Amino acid sequence: MLSLRLLRFARNDEHKNTMDDLKNKVIWITGASSGIGEALVHECAKQQAIIILSARRESELQRVVKQANLNDKNSFILPFDLTDTSKANDYAQQIISKFGKIDILINNGGQSQRSESIETSTATERTLFEINYFSAVNLSKAVLPYMLKSGAGKIVVISSIAGKFGFYLRSTYSAAKHALHGYFESLRLETEKKGLTVLMVCPGKIKTNVSLNAANGDGKSHNQMDASHENAMSAEACAQQIISGILTNKEEVFIGGKELLAVKIKRFFPNLFGKIIRKQSPY
Ligand SMILES: NC(=O)c1ccc[n+]([C@@H]2O[C@H](COP(=O)([O-])OP(=O)(O)OC[C@H]3O[C@@H](n4cnc5c(N)ncnc54)[C@H](OP(=O)(O)O)[C@@H]3O)[C@@H](O)[C@H]2O)c1
Repeated sequence: MLSLRLLRFARNDEHKNTMDDLKNKVIWITGASSGIGEALVHECAKQQAIIILSARRESELQRVVKQANLNDKNSFILPFDLTDTSKANDYAQQIISKFGKIDILINNGGQSQRSESIETSTATERTLFEINYFSAVNLSKAVLPYMLKSGAGKIVVISSIAGKFGFYLRSTYSAAKHALHGYFESLRLETEKKGLTVLMVCPGKIKTNVSLNAANGDGKSHNQMDASHENAMSAEACAQQIISGILTNKEEVFIGGKELLAVKIKRFFPNLFGKIIRKQSPY
């Protein structure tokens, strides 16, 4: 009896706050101009959510709005660079003025890395941390007052399996993704009694432009499609699994193919993991 209760307690999907759908939910998505973020816009639009789209390239955000059949009433383009989120409070205020609430923030925008530690400049490392870590923290802190006031809200963080183990050519990216787990797991504990929830998403390999856009040591784009990404899971399938994680109020989801096994192998067989990971190609 006790073990049954323990089992239920331990199950990830036994938490309250599940949602039937995203209809009329106000959802702010960063990195909405491409890849996983763009696919998330389409999934949220299908469910009649109200979507705020952020990224640097305004013209690409307009394209996504058009292709998702969104309009002025159910969408808002809020372009900015994640390396400077000093105006995060102002962005949140703009959304509140327009739609009156923020139900879900999806911290998705990010940039990967393809350079060895020794060749990565400090400036590039700091930029990668701004984009992949500090922006998520700053934007989340900007929406928190409104979510806490309303007693509800969800913060979604797109981490990576690189947030669970280090990998070749990913030192700073992996460090920033690891940092997200420490921060947002703490935030979850601090805010859950006030009605807020946090979902950590760890994609493996997803077919997007992530490797093309990854930073080299000098901060310039890597500009090459990794072979492992070319035949990977689609951004659309990934977005569907993220939405499912949101609706069923999961705390952490892993999305991708056989590369996800590495996370389990590291946890249960760390020595074997050490042997396997050394044989993987960085691309
Ligand atoms: N694809 C994968 O295999 C994979 C695996 C694990 C984790 N992830 C994570 O998934 C998230 C989405 O990546 P993706 O795969 O969809 O890659 P992507 O196609 O390169 O998309 C990245 C998005 O982030 C935005 N972005 C990048 N730098 C920015 C900046 N400085 N300021 C504002 N926006 C910026 C880009 O928009 P603009 O260029 O218009 O600014 C774009 O919308 C990232 O956090 C990534 O780390 C991806």
